[in-house]
Amino acid sequence: MDIAAVEDRHSSGVYTKRGVTIVRGEGALLWDEQGKEYIDCVGGQGAANLGHANAAVAAAMATQAQRLISCPEIFHNDRRSELMERLTMLAGLPRVFLCNSGTEAVEAAFKFSRVATGRTEIVAAMRGFHGRTMGALSATWNKAYREPFMPLVPGFRHVPYNNLGALDQAVTADTSAVILEIVQGEGGVFPGTREYLQGAQTVCRRSGALLIIDEVQTAFGRTGKMFAFQHYDLQPDLVCVAKSIAGGLPMGALLIGEAVGVLPGHIHGSTFGGNPLACATSLAALDEIERLELPRRAAENGEYFLANLRQIDTPVVREVRGLGLLVGIELRRKAAPFLQVLMEDGVLALTAGMNVIRFLPPLVITREQLDRVTGSVAHVLAQPVV
Ligand SMILES: Cc1ncc(COP(=O)(O)O)c(C=O)c1O
Repeated sequence: MDIAAVEDRHSSGVYTKRGVTIVRGEGALLWDEQGKEYIDCVGGQGAANLGHANAAVAAAMATQAQRLISCPEIFHNDRRSELMERLTMLAGLPRVFLCNSGTEAVEAAFKFSRVATGRTEIVAAMRGFHGRTMGALSATWNKAYREPFMPLVPGFRHVPYNNLGALDQAVTADTSAVILEIVQGEGGVFPGTREYLQGAQTVCRRSGALLIIDEVQTAFGRTGKMFAFQHYDLQPDLVCVAKSIAGGLPMGALLIGEAVGVLPGHIHGSTFGGNPLACATSLAALDEIERLELPRRAAENGEYFLANLRQIDTPVVREVRGLGLLVGIELRRKAAPFLQVLMEDGVLALTAGMNVIRFLPPLVITREQLDRVTGSVAHVLAQPVV
């Protein structure tokens, strides 16, 4: 059977394929159907912080699947109760709404902000990415994602990132919330500055707007802390997470601060939200993230990787930047053709915007594997053909 041909025949078409069929993974490695090995710097687009085929996560998933998979939140549940306590303790916010993806966590954040403040407007950042459903898309900046779906939800405004004056001016008495990423991932790997992020929190507090931090790409160790907002001593009112929350199983969560409080019944909900399978898997994933000290490893290996990438001497590179193991190389050229050559060389990576090669490796990646990636990048960027 030609796997790719069958998939292409039936797929919706919304994904641009890379021309490789991945069938197996272990740690930071993936293999295609021909048995070719790749170092995975796509990392499930951020869902595979723990690496592939983690035995503890797989075992927890199998055990819970044999016990109870479905249990809507109209009932209490042992695993959900445990996870809620764990997540809220880790983040330092008292409540949580459980859902199934990043975009759902963002939707919930917008709805809860409107209910909690009685205001309707949202301020978001240029280059920000928050998801693809209509509300989250309204906060997303990229015109190619937005324009086919106009008109979007009214009341959204975009301001330049890392520009506190512009943010201050945009926030008014009608602003229900400001939504920001700590590092803009999809938008090109742009870390926010301490001054900007703390200033944004002050602007929110002063105006009565809520601060939503979108940690869908940055949480669970990625940037060198369990949550990236912990780098800057922030106290966000709402924190959106997903991706690596449950070892790669689909799950999202919105952490909810005191300023939002307890929401009225019936205003929101989700059939799958808080299902015991996802909760048990998430508990195992959090155990593993802690046992393997992934935040510390991401911090140390991220610095190591960034330093090595910065040594690559080529005029093609404009800037190398990142936080922890969320790393981008901004090129003076389009990034996509380089990804193809990297793949042929055994390294899978992502773009971020037009000109940035983005690396989101599993946080279990070894230094030896990172060295192979650096060597491959140096080799590929030196090629005149791309
Ligand atoms: C910062 C951020 N927010 C939201 C999303 C949307 O998450 P999902 O694809 O799980 O809906 C993403 C996905 O890449 C993201 O990076």
